[in-house]
Amino acid sequence: MKDFSEIKEQVKSKLSEVADGVQLSEFWQKYLGKTGVISGLMKEMKSVPPEEKPTFGKAVNEVREWAQNLYNEKQSEIKEYELKKRYEREAVDVTMPALKRAPANLHPISLITQQMISVFAGMGFEVLEYPEIEDDDHNFTRLNVLKDHPSRDMQDTFWLTEDLLLRTHTSPGQIRTMDAEKPPIKVLVPGKVFRSDSDATHSPMFMQMEGLVVDKGITLCDLQGMLDQFVRQMFGGGTKTRLRPSYFPFTEPSVEVDVSCFECGGKGCSLCKGTGWIEVLGGGVVNKKVLENCNIDPEVYSGLAFGIGVERITMLKYGIPNMGMFFANDLDFLAQFKA
Ligand code: PHE
Repeated sequence: MKDFSEIKEQVKSKLSEVADGVQLSEFWQKYLGKTGVISGLMKEMKSVPPEEKPTFGKAVNEVREWAQNLYNEKQSEIKEYELKKRYEREAVDVTMPALKRAPANLHPISLITQQMISVFAGMGFEVLEYPEIEDDDHNFTRLNVLKDHPSRDMQDTFWLTEDLLLRTHTSPGQIRTMDAEKPPIKVLVPGKVFRSDSDATHSPMFMQMEGLVVDKGITLCDLQGMLDQFVRQMFGGGTKTRLRPSYFPFTEPSVEVDVSCFECGGKGCSLCKGTGWIEVLGGGVVNKKVLENCNIDPEVYSGLAFGIGVERITMLKYGIPNMGMFFANDLDFLAQFKA
């Protein structure tokens, strides 16, 4: 009777050397596979005398079963080992500080623009937007800023052609609205405007918000009432307005509007340069000539208009000293503004 102890020793020692799944399947091919060593034993059957064949076959099967069992044990060992390795590899240290993602926030100009719009929307203003490229007619002439009139020099214009320009203010929105709508009119026109001017308090591109109200019996008192309401909501309940006479070709009378200093309450501080008042916008009663230019009868209707600089309101509200900070894209600066 053939002794399989040699083969068994070989199986044992080879299997003990197996260290991972790849080696394990190599082992299986070599010993337990169809062309493996143990299957090879069966081929020896031919040379076994007939009476010993059953015993021989049984013995080979026992060896196969024995080897298969060893193999199974090793397989679960290896599986467990590989899983452990994988867990180690993929381990997450839950105590490690997380990567922080700062939530995005609005640019301070957008923030204040939205606040201003919501204040005026609350008073019933319709919000309209118009092109940033304008023609001479809408930006100047029909606003009663006539050719060769010195008031054209109040705003340093970026001309694109003889006739086209980057709008220097949102006031052309007055003309465009009155061309398209009949009174009663109550619109707010926010938008970018452009002037060839640049220092700590001026930028060649900035935001304005134009207000226009046209109806029967509109007076300067309506303007002051609306602006009172506006500054109280923007700067706090105690804030007051003061109108000073001024000049704009498209309003008559024209006013410059100051608010009582919300920093010092009117006593005088560095923000209001000791005066107790801060200038925030220009406005007035719509010039009759402008109404006529838009085919609105000034004997029947009157209007008020105002233009607010959004950067200026934002600088005052947050105490920002330099206009350039709005456009420097400094995240440390921008991240400070939350709605
Ligand atoms: N358009 C003027 C400016 O930009 C502001 C203004 C608007 C004044 C409406 C009066 C009425 O300076």
